[in-house]
Amino acid sequence: MSSLLKITDLYVSVDEKPILRGVSLAIRQGEIHALMGPNGSGKSTLAYTLVGHPKYEITSGTIEIDGSAINELDPCERARLGLFLAFQYPVTIPGVKVADFLRHAVTNIRTPDRKEGEGLIPMRDFRKELKGRMEELGMDVEFARRYLNEGFSGGEKKRMEILQLAMLQPKFAILDETDSGLDSDAVRVVSEGLRKLSGPQMGSLIITHHERLLEYNIPQFTHVMLAGRIVETGNADLAQELHNQGYATVRERHPVEASEEEEVQQKAV
Ligand SMILES: Nc1ncnc2c1ncn2[C@@H]1O[C@H](COP(=O)(O)OP(=O)(O)OP(=O)(O)O)[C@@H](O)[C@H]1O
Ligand SMILES: [Mg+2]
Repeated sequence: MSSLLKITDLYVSVDEKPILRGVSLAIRQGEIHALMGPNGSGKSTLAYTLVGHPKYEITSGTIEIDGSAINELDPCERARLGLFLAFQYPVTIPGVKVADFLRHAVTNIRTPDRKEGEGLIPMRDFRKELKGRMEELGMDVEFARRYLNEGFSGGEKKRMEILQLAMLQPKFAILDETDSGLDSDAVRVVSEGLRKLSGPQMGSLIITHHERLLEYNIPQFTHVMLAGRIVETGNADLAQELHNQGYATVRERHPVEASEEEEVQQKAV
């Protein structure tokens, strides 16, 4: 049976300011969903809320995986249930190598009942698996020896995200892609990596303005967010239309949300 990530009538505030105002969305394992919308419409807010960032307060509505609410779970517990978020701005963790970080992350997910201080997954098995994955993705094995995000270029951060995805094999991947500062190599790394990793075992929510990413990973569903609500859902053609035309026609079709747009953003300042 495939798993279902279901969001129902979700309202989310940041510092008491309402940002999401009734978002409903269901993602099945194996499906690719694109989430689009103008700057400030609430896409990243939804991504952070899904993985349980403490700053984002759910004021009403539910997030469920296979019928169980996960609203109250911390990010670690959510990850164990198969949720993964590639952050828009990955953090640097000083002194931690890529391989060490991944070994911890993989251990935490595969042996959730492990007590503090109990062993990590055996180094030999882990190394072998990591090497295999890196080869599949066409990555230089030396990369695993680098310190996490320290001095990483935009493209290397993207490689890290994809490698994390490959090792953790989440049921649901939330990819919030920054659009500035990524050169075409970096976009290719994510686009191709994601395509290699996609399949019936992974559902994804891809947040991007990059056409390339969605050309490589054709979404079955495209959702458009405006002023904290999903105002339209279509297929890959809708993503193409938005790439070509921008959001003017969406705003025309949804005058109420369009007029609320500024209000939501001002409240958030
Ligand atoms: N941590 C925060 N503190 C204060 N305001 C926030 C925070 N996170 C989001 N907001 C506000 O919520 C609104 C939605 O922001 P969000 O980052 O979700 O938009 P977005 O759709 O991801 O935009 P972009 O396309 O630019 O990434 C904005 O008005 C933003 O200022
Ligand atoms: Mg964003």
